[in-house]
Amino acid sequence: MRARIAGTGSYVPERVMTNADLERMVATSDSWIVARTGIRERRIAAPGEACSDLGMKAAERALEAAGITAADLDLILVATCTGDAPLPSTACLIQHRLGAVRAAACDLSAACCGFVFALAVGDAYVRTGFRHVLVVGSEVMSMLIDWTDRNTCVLFGDGAGAVVLSPTEGEQGILSSHLHSDGNLWDLICVPGGGSRMPPSEKMLAEGLQFIKMKGNETFKVAVKTLEEAAREALAANHLSVADLDLYVPHQANFRIIKAVADRLGLPMEKVVLNMDRYGNTSAASIPLALDEAVRAGRVKKGNLVLIEAFGSGLTWASSVVRW
Ligand code: UT7
Repeated sequence: MRARIAGTGSYVPERVMTNADLERMVATSDSWIVARTGIRERRIAAPGEACSDLGMKAAERALEAAGITAADLDLILVATCTGDAPLPSTACLIQHRLGAVRAAACDLSAACCGFVFALAVGDAYVRTGFRHVLVVGSEVMSMLIDWTDRNTCVLFGDGAGAVVLSPTEGEQGILSSHLHSDGNLWDLICVPGGGSRMPPSEKMLAEGLQFIKMKGNETFKVAVKTLEEAAREALAANHLSVADLDLYVPHQANFRIIKAVADRLGLPMEKVVLNMDRYGNTSAASIPLALDEAVRAGRVKKGNLVLIEAFGSGLTWASSVVRW
């Protein structure tokens, strides 16, 4: 018994922020952003539009695709670092609004890796007897952005994606997941203020410590190395080779990172799902959003072998192999 992905869904806010818009805000250029990241535009949540609003819409679409109702759910996991509030969990807010009365619900914090970690947890619960698990990745990254910091403000966007996991005893499903963390590298990507270490204060806000800080170049190098390793680890665990892969759905942080990993693996770019040109880096939403687009575009067929993987703040990195 293991979990298969029975349905996918996604949602992005309506407002589009282009690179040209950013040119008017900080010293940057469309050509620099496109060349260094592959990003052309990103979505920004409307004032008052919160993490659960985005996640809720993605979840409804995933439930519809899976052909089940919210009342069928046993567990709701929401991967996010930009929840509606510190308490309650965003998962409980989504549970309430969906009417998923039987489901337990909680959030999972692993930044950009959150969805892959939550997928592994959901799979583990299905293997122990839970029937239907909803896994959501939803982020309003714009709340963490210093719009005067060109090092970070060009990279991120808002969005949500979701999958429904259901049990299977056949060939399909999540074959294995591989989760890694190295807290020694915590300061490569962090939000210094707003938590118990540095609670909100006038000083903290004045210094902009509620915003994301990133050592981009160092992160880039670690990302390429760990993503290649995690891909090889996932394939080896299932006695598969790179040539067996039909589709690669990586975290959409930077086109150059993804291209470098694909080149090292010897994976042709036609097998890689890319959408950072339209959404930027949506953290935990990135993979389920890309996966849902690939599914709806007919790029994933029954029996296909799909590798998903992410890296992010923590640092964390993780991979999962799925037989569709
Ligand atoms: O989900 C995990 C999230 N983290 C990541 O994915 C981060 C991974 N890192 C990256 O994607 C890349 O490191 C960045 C896109 C963030 C930066 O690209 P880079 O090729 O590593 O550039 P760099 O940081 O080495 O900066 C090169 C130059 C610098 O100028 P000087 O010192 O060479 O004069 C920067 O000041 O580019 C400058 N720069 C910019 N120029 C125009 C940095 N940001 C910008 C910008 N527009 N937005």
